[in-house]
Amino acid sequence: MDKDYKIIELQLQTHFIGKRIYHYKRIPSTQQLAISFAETNISNENGTVILADEQYDGKGRGNKKWISPKGGLWMSLIIKPKIELNKINILSIIAAISVCEIINEISNLETRIKWPNDIIIDNKKIAGIIIDSSINKNNIEYIVIGIGINIVVDILKINLFLSSIDRLSQKATSLQNELKEISFDRFKLLKRLLERMEYYLFLVQNKTDNTKIIEHYKKLSNILGKSIYVYRKDVKEFSAIAKDIDSDGGLILKRENKIIEKIYCGEISIREKEKEKRN
Ligand code: BTN
Repeated sequence: MDKDYKIIELQLQTHFIGKRIYHYKRIPSTQQLAISFAETNISNENGTVILADEQYDGKGRGNKKWISPKGGLWMSLIIKPKIELNKINILSIIAAISVCEIINEISNLETRIKWPNDIIIDNKKIAGIIIDSSINKNNIEYIVIGIGINIVVDILKINLFLSSIDRLSQKATSLQNELKEISFDRFKLLKRLLERMEYYLFLVQNKTDNTKIIEHYKKLSNILGKSIYVYRKDVKEFSAIAKDIDSDGGLILKRENKIIEKIYCGEISIREKEKEKRN
């Protein structure tokens, strides 16, 4: 393990998150590795963090590839949360809020959340989150939260790759691209992020009412009230208005036939007309 990351371990003001940090220079995917750690559960992996300087088979949501060259924060966190299964989506919400808040805090940039958990600046994606879980008889055995933040990465290359697989894909950006700075304290970002996530996790586990968390998420959301396209597995894409977020993190939609529907998974994009209005 790298010495610098040991220092973070020591300075972390957390109770369990990041008490064990594994750091690698180059691996296929921190997410894949974290899942295999969680599966084997050699030494109760609750709170374990896996970091890589570079991933050569990074995983994005919806089976997409996540380009992860040197210069990003690529991490996966294993947690074994004591929450009911129907509250599982709140974990995605708190991960998104934490990433958004910490980027805003550290850089003064105004990032927003595109449901469910893309972190966006001016319609460009600066960070992404993926959640993998193992459920057994209605119990959550473990959750792996994978977070990728573009810090100092080659945005042109990433955007070229993205447009080669999907013409309509969300453009990427990075902290460097937005701030024109060339050095960022990755450790500070990581430390603050882990501390913030633990703070929210305690709130959720202590059965505090999640209303405040959801209200906070809604303030950071960039889609409410907007006209969007919804893409879901095995369903033809459709348009709707993003009306609200329910107490479990589901997105409440009003479809064109006026029917109200709630979704917990899928991808969305803001309709062009809305984007133009904003610009
Ligand atoms: C998304 O599609 O928006 C989710 C991207 C998640 C990327 C992170 S980088 C660290 C972790 N390891 C992976 O392979 N994926 C996640």
